[in-house]
Amino acid sequence: MNPALRIVDAAVESAELPIPNGWFAILSSRELKKKAVRPVRAFGKELVAFRGDDGRVTVLDAHCPHLGAHMGYGGKVVGDELQCPFHAWRFDKGGHCTHVPFAKKLPVARTRCWQVHETGGLIFVHHDRTGAPPATPPPDLSMFARWTRPIEDRSEYRGHPIEAAENVIDAGHFVYFHGAREPAALDFSANGATASMKTAFALGGLLSGVTAQMAVELYGPGLLFVRTKLLVDVVVITTPLPIEPGRTLFRMSVVAEKPRWFPLFGRIAAEIIRRRAAYDAKHERAIWEHKVYVPAPRLSSVDRHIQPFRRWYAQFL
Ligand code: FES
Ligand SMILES: [Fe+2]
Repeated sequence: MNPALRIVDAAVESAELPIPNGWFAILSSRELKKKAVRPVRAFGKELVAFRGDDGRVTVLDAHCPHLGAHMGYGGKVVGDELQCPFHAWRFDKGGHCTHVPFAKKLPVARTRCWQVHETGGLIFVHHDRTGAPPATPPPDLSMFARWTRPIEDRSEYRGHPIEAAENVIDAGHFVYFHGAREPAALDFSANGATASMKTAFALGGLLSGVTAQMAVELYGPGLLFVRTKLLVDVVVITTPLPIEPGRTLFRMSVVAEKPRWFPLFGRIAAEIIRRRAAYDAKHERAIWEHKVYVPAPRLSSVDRHIQPFRRWYAQFL
């Protein structure tokens, strides 16, 4: 038999990847105002986030160690602490019980506390399957402080967060999915928990025919920037969050430089890119929802960055 035919006949092997370790954005800052309490589903777990009187965010395991109420539903902020909605036990920022109404003696009770870092309008937590402390510093988005306010978009897809990251280094799909004229020249390089890549990207709509330079920066499995230029620098900040095995929240925030000659133009540029990115993401979701992860893919020369990317990503799995 022709060996090539055997390859065609073979079933495609697929694999389920574990939830990765790293920093992940669970909420935007706007979703958690002062004294607010929010339930959060992430990493296959139930969490509760709250913002105390001091403005700082705390994230705890949501189920109360007393009799198991979910503190994200009806919990209240008292000072800088969280009060359970069921019997009003209170928990501090470390998850320790500090107050039990009418109790003569405080029981030793604690709920797990997550490492939190808020930057650039996003609230990140560190996830590690073994409970190990972060090997990398938290993300820093302070460089965008003088840029336009983020314009946000969010959606969910069935699949692993790797799909969102592998997508931006997958040169072959730029042509068929994003209207590029040919698979662009790419430079993929990895350094510790960060990786980067440069390419060119064809714009559509009103700017059809214009090719934008694009640079991608990946910071661990939970944050990636896609930088492009539309007279001013525009960055699509993408933060894929594993909600549970096989389900990902895909959050995008678009920010742009405010040019001195017409600061409002930054907002216009960000909105143009957001529309394009949201349009593409909507169509891409249909692929991600139904695709499988192929651990040993058949690749062509166009795909030469897929394996270096996967070797880099493997450190988070
Ligand atoms: S279940 Fe939380 S205080 Fe009782
Ligand atoms: Fe894409």
